[in-house]
Amino acid sequence: MKFELPPLPYDKSALEPYISARTLDFHYEKHHRGYLEKLRKEIGDTPKAELSLVEIIRSSDGSVFNNAAQVWNHTFYWQSMMPGGGGKATGDLLAAIERDFGSQGEFARQLAEAAIGEFGSGWAWLVMAGRGGKLKVIKSDDAENPLKTGDIPLLTVDVWEHAYYLDYQHERPKYVGAFINHLLNWDFAANNYKSAIGR
Ligand code: FE2
Repeated sequence: MKFELPPLPYDKSALEPYISARTLDFHYEKHHRGYLEKLRKEIGDTPKAELSLVEIIRSSDGSVFNNAAQVWNHTFYWQSMMPGGGGKATGDLLAAIERDFGSQGEFARQLAEAAIGEFGSGWAWLVMAGRGGKLKVIKSDDAENPLKTGDIPLLTVDVWEHAYYLDYQHERPKYVGAFINHLLNWDFAANNYKSAIGR
């Protein structure tokens, strides 16, 4: 296993007051790092140790898949947020959102519905349905992610309780609202969109 956890793209207090430094500290140092450590232990010196993280995700199931996917999902989630985020998509991505959802407001409504409606632990995603395909919102259970289905992820919201419980207790809708309105990193989504359409 050659990979390490990438550093968080901002200080642990940078997302306050919407996500506390305490939450980010636990989430990154205990949960995210914990998945990597379990993955390393499970893979050891097996042939999978030569694969990339995405290759491991695509070729595994059970516990190896769960830990590998959670490592990837969290790295993607940190980048899906930024201090001073929220607001509007721009340029090509905004045009695609208006084409496929009707409006950015309707996209936000669907993302909130998926994130709040996911039963138990999981993720809500904005994805492109294959290269050059339509944009859509999906949700996934536990560690599941779009990498096995051919959808191309553009951004994600972690809705495991560990993502918000210290700050919002059981009030997931408040956390999801803060994510969409104050944290969502549209630049990251726009860059993923550009890559997905091959520009
Ligand atoms: Fe998480």
